[in-house]
Amino acid sequence: MLELPVIRQTTPSFHRTHVGARRVYIETYGCQMNVNDSEIVLSILNANGYGAAELPDEADVILLNTCAVREHAEQRIWERLKQLNPARRRRPGLVIGILGCMAERLRSRLLNTGLVELIVGPDEYRKLPQLLEQAFAGDRGIAVRLSRVETYDDIEPLRTDGISAWVTIMRGCDKFCTFCIVPFTRGRERCRPLQSIVAEVERLWERGFQEVTLLGQNVNSYRDPATGADFADLLAACARAVPHMRIRYLTSHPRDMSDKLIDTMAAYANICKYIHLPVQSGSNRILALMNRGYTVEQYLERIERIRSTMPDCALSTDIIAGFCTETEEDHRATLELLRTVRYDGAYMFKYSPREGTKAWKWGDDVPEEVKIRRLNEIIALQQQISYEINQQREVGRLHEVLVEGPSKRNPEQWQGRTDTNKVVIFPRHPDVGVGSRVRTRITAATSATLFGELVEILPTPLPHRQSTATLTPSEH
Ligand code: SAH
Ligand code: SF4
Ligand code: F3S
Repeated sequence: MLELPVIRQTTPSFHRTHVGARRVYIETYGCQMNVNDSEIVLSILNANGYGAAELPDEADVILLNTCAVREHAEQRIWERLKQLNPARRRRPGLVIGILGCMAERLRSRLLNTGLVELIVGPDEYRKLPQLLEQAFAGDRGIAVRLSRVETYDDIEPLRTDGISAWVTIMRGCDKFCTFCIVPFTRGRERCRPLQSIVAEVERLWERGFQEVTLLGQNVNSYRDPATGADFADLLAACARAVPHMRIRYLTSHPRDMSDKLIDTMAAYANICKYIHLPVQSGSNRILALMNRGYTVEQYLERIERIRSTMPDCALSTDIIAGFCTETEEDHRATLELLRTVRYDGAYMFKYSPREGTKAWKWGDDVPEEVKIRRLNEIIALQQQISYEINQQREVGRLHEVLVEGPSKRNPEQWQGRTDTNKVVIFPRHPDVGVGSRVRTRITAATSATLFGELVEILPTPLPHRQSTATLTPSEH
């Protein structure tokens, strides 16, 4: 799962805003699961009569949905809280609340700072309306119990209309990697029923979404609670139910990357050929210390299997530099692994010790400057590899692109994504809009972005054109 830039949710799609209703503003930090959780929170609050505020200054309630995965993520929240504090003087009665993983990790330690009125952990969002009422009456509130069953399965997230939607299929994590706080902030793994997920995906298609990303910390350990159907079964069921919708998922764990899952991805044209498969380290000693449950050799065997079945499948990974006891030899093994796999992209982090994890007790013995140097070497190597891959394999190639909107850098250009999750920038065309599907030819590339020319505007598949005749898996 990737840490995202902060998302300022302006909630334009609030169904109804009561006159005089209290207004809520929510800011989302952390991973995609938090983005979907914020949509769940908005749905709960909307059902309880809250309206949307476009700006924090217009809000009666400011909520920060937070991340605790690294110290840096938490520092950003502390800074934001200090920034928001003066607003209290301007707006007496303003309620500031912390949701998400940092709320769960720090609990009352946050309340004691006097910077917030409300602390609500990821499994307690149903209590928000009641806690907010209490907060308006002057009682600061905290709810951080983790649940073994809560999946918010009955709550339709309040999404901003667009082309791409997140769908959380499971919550929590049971893997307990020794560096990771997530099992402590998100609790035990639990899954939504398969039928309910498929039904949500179908509703999204009917509403005009063109792409869906199934979310979980380890989606490939998914099991339907009633039938035991696995993640490959779920993917296949979604692919069949909405044969023209793009289907993605995030994140998968190498330990659960089964042959069946790889074969299912290959069997359906609408399952995107992109896998984020975090490896963390290229050293077997470090992988064992991390409790990742695989060796480099086992990981490479999975990569082999993916590539022999889907030669065009793009791959990305996560790397941690400077985990405790990491030697130069371990570090060189990570560089070697990057050279062997040649990922399309990677998310690379300095190790950040998290209190309460197993590794916390082992200390943080790699000096900061060594961590930074190793991280920089990893980033430089990966950028070089991504650049080479894009030059050698992408330039000249045709790609079907789902258009997401104007390019952030240059609004005169459109931006979209390939099936393999690469960003493509191409010149605007009057007949192309958000949600269009186009064929582009790639003419240039950097390590992170492809630049293309428009070759053909493809028909946009619409819900009413969906036909049961296309239910058989296409040969890939
Ligand atoms: N469930 C996902 C990862 C979720 S956290 C998985 O297992 O693949 C996203 C990434 O943050 C991790 O893959 C890891 O690379 C990084 N990360 C997690 N804890 C960290 C820590 N304590 N210090 C540095 N990076 C960390
Ligand atoms: Fe954290 Fe490991 Fe679970 Fe991923 S699999 S969320 S890294 S404990
Ligand atoms: Fe996501 Fe950060 Fe929590 S990565 S699960 S928001 S700790």
